[in-house]
Amino acid sequence: MSPPNRHTTSTHPQACALRAQLATRLSGETREDTLARWDAHGATLLTAFGTLYDDDARATSALQHLLSQMIGNIDARRPELRALDASRERDPAWFLAADMIGYTAYVDRFAGTLLGVGRRVDHLQGLGVRYLHLLPFLRAREGDNDGGFAVSDYDAVQPALGDIEDIDALTVRLRRAGISLCADLVLNHTADDHAWARAARAGDPHHRAYYHIFPDRELPDRHERALGQVFPVTAPGNFTEVPGVGSVWTTFYPYQWDLNWSNPDVFVKMACALMRLANRGVEIFRLDATPYLWKRLGTSCMNQPEVHTILRAFRALCAIVAPGTLLKAEAIVPAHELTPYFGDADDQGAECHLAYHSTLMAGLWAALAEQRGDIVGRILRASPAPPQGAGWLTYLRCHDDIGWHVLSDESAGAAGSTPFDLMRISRFYAGDTADSYARGRRFQSVGDGIHGTNGMTSALVGIDDALARGDAQALEPAEHRMRLLYGIVFAVAGLPTLYMGDEIALGNDESAGADGRHAEEGRWLHRPPMDWTTVDRIADHHIDDIENTDTARPLVAARIHAALRRMIATRLRTPSLRADAPTRVLDFDDPAILGVQRGGEFVLLCNFGAQPVTIDALPGLDGAQWRDLLHNGEDITLPLQLAPCALHWLGRA
Ligand code: GLC
Repeated sequence: MSPPNRHTTSTHPQACALRAQLATRLSGETREDTLARWDAHGATLLTAFGTLYDDDARATSALQHLLSQMIGNIDARRPELRALDASRERDPAWFLAADMIGYTAYVDRFAGTLLGVGRRVDHLQGLGVRYLHLLPFLRAREGDNDGGFAVSDYDAVQPALGDIEDIDALTVRLRRAGISLCADLVLNHTADDHAWARAARAGDPHHRAYYHIFPDRELPDRHERALGQVFPVTAPGNFTEVPGVGSVWTTFYPYQWDLNWSNPDVFVKMACALMRLANRGVEIFRLDATPYLWKRLGTSCMNQPEVHTILRAFRALCAIVAPGTLLKAEAIVPAHELTPYFGDADDQGAECHLAYHSTLMAGLWAALAEQRGDIVGRILRASPAPPQGAGWLTYLRCHDDIGWHVLSDESAGAAGSTPFDLMRISRFYAGDTADSYARGRRFQSVGDGIHGTNGMTSALVGIDDALARGDAQALEPAEHRMRLLYGIVFAVAGLPTLYMGDEIALGNDESAGADGRHAEEGRWLHRPPMDWTTVDRIADHHIDDIENTDTARPLVAARIHAALRRMIATRLRTPSLRADAPTRVLDFDDPAILGVQRGGEFVLLCNFGAQPVTIDALPGLDGAQWRDLLHNGEDITLPLQLAPCALHWLGRA
């Protein structure tokens, strides 16, 4: 259940009036539960909606429409989803349990179609996956569509992936396997061929008002002065001149038209899209590009207060119509701008349940390149524990580039830390420095600008390079690096998520762009098709000799797979690794070392440096006895020598 809110429904006149409507119009089966949920969250929804739209003449009819749609969706919600709602209201922290393991994949790259994903559930279960994020599968525009993030229809599936009923079938299959489906809700924009955009093009004023369309460049030019750029190389600027339409706000690609959230009809339409997908069994919504929803002249048009009001309203809406669902913020912003996505200081826990810890993700890569565990330690120290019932999503790679801007404070030496050079790091991962083992590529870097890095984990840690050169000596440390980074992702506070293919150290898709289709879009480098031949060989135990240090890729795959599975199995047995168990960073003088205590029972210890380091004592934990959880539970005695890139998970003996 969402936290109790400050506005009580009984003292909110409009909430009382709408409650009466709900009471008469809901079916007997849903009435009682819904009214209780309305009493707890209705006032929050209405207060947020009112804050956004009270001055708008369209607000009253929009709200009436929303209410009718809420009633329809509540009554249409299937019994098994209602049961899920009830169980999650009893256990609102369900997704923070130690056994929640996440996985992210593109449907076509992973299994061809939505139904194909259902046929790969065994693989997911073998990894312990309980949360599956499938990248956009709704109907997208033809031609370029930003990997599906240019949605043409929120009620249809991309034809190559299946049809809308397949979502129901897949979610039933996943739920039976204990896996929750996470889907993208692309809120910031639609494709330029969405029915609303087509109507706007045809001159329909109602639909023109769904977008930010300007008759000339005057306001766009004034806005541009304060705006950043997401794709400065492939889509410079934030506006697109559309013949016969005007200057259209397009933060991302020119074919992604930003929605105008100051229009209450847009709010209601997107709320309806969410409710319908929730009724098809989507349990977690990844709110794509969340920071950009609200525009304000003279600002970067990111993280505006109204964005948070929208999220509060959506959270309350979910708590009323589909309380089993979660909201996840995709806000790739520096850490100090990120935590408000859980709710502001007065309303902690009132917004998203989950947020990507993008600073930690980028920090892990920076730490590896700089051989400095203290970079991660500082980020963890500065990460406030999310409010009760909320958590970080921890990850190493995803379908996007590693955006270095999220480390702007840390790299500048925030809070007295030693600065580091993001330009060097981005060159390092592109293989452009003498000491580099990486085979990534720079993304959207204009001139000397530092933007992002593309590449699969395997390529960035040096596995791809060692394999290509058949260099067994280089391969071993490369595999250690991959274990080190995932060993942290699985051990620090959060819901840890694997990126498709990482479980077998799948390499870059070097053919991406060769067919001309993705030539302009470097992120396809790390969106390779899944290698099921290798997965099946591992599953059938056809690769027995995994201790062999051979440089054949299937052997590397088997070793990494075994290492990750061992971590996951250990995590499942270790309650101190719950996403919401307390975290304490241990102080070490040597910047190469990272030590993190979780709960009372667990310590993570690792060495990012190139030299062995001896640990004489664990600060604040004198006298405790430890076992090495990843190495057959062997007793650990201090002093302990940490080899370069060593990873230890210590459990109390
Ligand atoms: C998000 C997605 C990214 C996409 C962008 C625009 O950041 O992760 O892949 O390009 O939104 O939709």
